[in-house]
This record gives sequence, structure tokens and C-alpha cells, in this order.
Amino acid sequence: MSPPVPVSVGVLASGGGSNLQALLDAEADPDWPARIAVVVSNRADAGALERARRHGRAAVLLPRRKDQPREVHDQALVQALRAHGVQWVCLAGYMLLVTPVLLQAFPDRVLNIHPALLPAFPGLHGQAQALHHGVRVAGATVHLVDGGCDTGPIVCQGAVPVLPGDDEAALSARILRVEHRLYPMALRWAAEGRLRVEGRRVQVDLPAGEATSLWDPAP
Ligand code: GAR
Repeated sequence: MSPPVPVSVGVLASGGGSNLQALLDAEADPDWPARIAVVVSNRADAGALERARRHGRAAVLLPRRKDQPREVHDQALVQALRAHGVQWVCLAGYMLLVTPVLLQAFPDRVLNIHPALLPAFPGLHGQAQALHHGVRVAGATVHLVDGGCDTGPIVCQGAVPVLPGDDEAALSARILRVEHRLYPMALRWAAEGRLRVEGRRVQVDLPAGEATSLWDPAP
């Protein structure tokens, strides 16, 4: 029997793309159920575009025109994703808010990774917000995107300690490490059809030995 065709994924990224890299690296597993077909960025200088090209994936630059409504931008985005047969969308450090135009094109099929333990610290600079509040545990969340800012149903979370002397850079690096474990795990479940949205919760049909939370105590 031939292996199942991997689910086609579009990644949206505005920055360096280390999460994109973690998703690309995961494809080295011959049984991996997802393949990134296209990477779209709003920034010409995004390292993510370069990573996509290096891996032979389509890299699309779609700058946000300030004179256009966000919906018009997202129509072009949907067109680019559809042109590459995309079935699931991963926001990986994508710094633009998405509109219902994208969400209706991919209902319950848009994932985001956020550098905080939601629902605490949504929006920008989740790591700095965590430090400011003096929390002792921080982390990252993968969630399905809904119409709000970082409000969608949670798929999985990874926690890390906040250590004395941490600044934003140190805490961000620690969180990023757990992000790189978390996002491939969530995408694999999505691609294998293991996610079921029930109201504001996601039920995960977990493979044996896996969990929807991670703890990375490493400094
Ligand atoms: C990650 O920490 C991600 O969680 C965050 O941006 C960083 C991107 O890093 N995303 C957000 O803040 C979205 N609101 P990367 O470009 O190296 O993947």
C-alpha cells in the first residue's frame, strides 16, 4: 500500500522563522503527515522566506499595503495559499492580525503559536508581560485562530520556568525552545485529523504516550 499523501500546509511568518524551521525539520521523518507547500510573509527581510527557498518551497512576499483594508490583503493571501493546494495554515511569528476572509477560507484549520501561557498575556510581547507580572512559570501555546487576538481554542501548551535574573531575551530563548517541540506536535495531530473543536475547547485524540502539555525545566 502506498503511504498516505501528506497534508499540504501554508506557513505565514514575519520574522526569522525558527518555528518554520522546526516544522521543516520534522518532515525528515518519513511518516510525517504534513508538507509545507508555501511560506508567505509580509516582510521582504523575513528570514522565513530565505529558509523556504533553501528548502525548495514556494516563498511568497505579500507586503501589507496601508491604503488597503485588511480584508483585501487576506483575499490575496487566500489566493496564494489556494494556488499551492494548502489545507492547513500555520501562523509562525506572523505579526499581522488575520481577518474572517482567511478564517472562512480555512475554517478551524488555522493554527497559531503564541509565546505565553494563554489566556494570560495575549497580544504583543507576551514574554515581557510575563516578566513584568513576576510569574514563575511562562511558556507557549498553540491554538486554533478565531476572530480575536490570541483567543482561539487551545491545542497544547509548553511551560518553562522563569529564573531570577531573566531578561526578555533570556526568557524568550527558553520559550522558543519549547515552541520548537510544541508546534510540530500540534501540526502532526492536525494533519492526522486528531483535533475536534467543541465550543471553546479542542479535544485531541492523543497517540499513546503523548500529552497536550510539556514542561521544559532546562535553564
Ligand atoms: C515566536 O516566539 C512566536 O511565538 C512569536 O514570534 C516568535 C517568532 O519566532 N509569535 C508572536 O508573537 C505572534 N503574536 P520565529 O520567527 O523564530 O519563529
